[in-house]
Amino acid sequence: MTSAEGLDSRIAVIGTGYVGIVTGACLASKGLDVTCVDLPTPQGQEKVDLINDGQAPIVEAGLGELIGKTVRNGNLRATTDLSMAVRRAGIVLISVGTPSAVDGSANTTYVFDAARGIAEHAAPEAIVATRSTVPVGTTRRIGQLFTSLTTKRLYPVSNPEFLAEGTAIADTMKPSRVVIGTDSPEIVGTRMERMWYPFLLNRAEHDLIITNPESSEMVKLNSNFQLALQIIGTNTVAEMCEINGADYRHVQRGTGKDPRIGKFLSPGPGYGGSCFPKDVRALEFLARQLGVESDFLRTLDATNEWHKIRWYEKIAEFYGGELVGKKIAVWGLSFKPGTDDVRESAALRIIPALNQHGAHVSAFDPLAQQTAMKELGNGRENLVYASDQYEAVRDADALLVLTNSDEYTRPNLGRLRGLMKSPIVFDARSIFDPKEMQQAGFYYAGIGRGVVDGRQAA
Ligand code: UGA
Repeated sequence: MTSAEGLDSRIAVIGTGYVGIVTGACLASKGLDVTCVDLPTPQGQEKVDLINDGQAPIVEAGLGELIGKTVRNGNLRATTDLSMAVRRAGIVLISVGTPSAVDGSANTTYVFDAARGIAEHAAPEAIVATRSTVPVGTTRRIGQLFTSLTTKRLYPVSNPEFLAEGTAIADTMKPSRVVIGTDSPEIVGTRMERMWYPFLLNRAEHDLIITNPESSEMVKLNSNFQLALQIIGTNTVAEMCEINGADYRHVQRGTGKDPRIGKFLSPGPGYGGSCFPKDVRALEFLARQLGVESDFLRTLDATNEWHKIRWYEKIAEFYGGELVGKKIAVWGLSFKPGTDDVRESAALRIIPALNQHGAHVSAFDPLAQQTAMKELGNGRENLVYASDQYEAVRDADALLVLTNSDEYTRPNLGRLRGLMKSPIVFDARSIFDPKEMQQAGFYYAGIGRGVVDGRQAA
């Protein structure tokens, strides 16, 4: 065994956000020795303390248990001391944020800050793998930075993550593919393959893709772009179905039966989160940079924003533009169920619009109330956070459903109707059945299907 092989069982993960901590805990669960690093700031220290205490610094199903187990058995720890973590590692993973800059490009400041620290402290022959979603060319630029800062041989690699919030552990433990982008496939490909081997056991050979750094970076961008594109298409067709008599639930089933068409066919109030909005903007920026025809790309972001705000428009139209004094209950504040993440969520667009036009909002989310309060504020008279979904609808003029959380996908319709001032429901996630809603006496505007009005019948 060469010294690099010995060191390769020791991994440093820079950044303890979604990607970093999930990847770190999963690698530790396979017996690797993992040290996660965050910044020496009060927030960074707080996350490090939580991890070392065996707790998850974010809301993610199963993560607390995995961290607890791997910290207890000594395979996982966290620190704010980058030099200590990096010095002893054969493989360093960069998993820091790359938020959108104003021009749509991804801001790589944190990636290069991490790379500079790594250049200084890494062991010779260390692999430095970028898991953050970065602009095409970043891995090569990291390599150039290394050459300018150190005489040590370091191997920059692109190794994008494909985890989705809410299923992050399963996505990492059973990856749909592992992509490795390197100019030294013999050396680096072999060492990276060894690290990911326990996750690829019993899997087809083509689940591991070794390519050059640019292709690997492009795989990540294209994966999110294709999925986002499908959601935009889905939401556009769903909007048509609301007008032309088609029922998108049937259209979805009929379309999804074509195996060439993927699974991202559920309509909703636009896509949110930290990935699709940012990566679609980054792809559009790349097209402009390369001088590639990008007219249709330019419209995607605005279309997705429309798919969010149109749920405000629907409500405003229902009340003839007169929202003053109306109480609107909102179920769902996060960008999707199973997470406390509210980044770019529909609620963050719609609630301020409702408030601005004089409506009061009573919001409920099973996981994301605290994070939403940080963005939308707390203690205002026109926005209250309810203790449960039924409390939220008490005396409400209407209910708007923005996420399909398990907590409320089978609500008691009689109880709902009894609590509401008027039985009016706008459902941007298809959690209700229109027939049942009509029978139960509701006015019901679902996504991708026409309105039913059972108020007279009941
Ligand atoms: C997404 C990708 O799914 C991951 O593969 C990728 O690794 C990740 O971004 C990333 O780049 O790190 P995530 O943002 O966690 O993961 O969530 P998704 O489940 O993909 O949902 C994104 C948005 O699309 C949500 O607002 C969701 O409600 C919406 N969506 C999803 C729909 O409206 N319809 C669908 O059929 C699917």
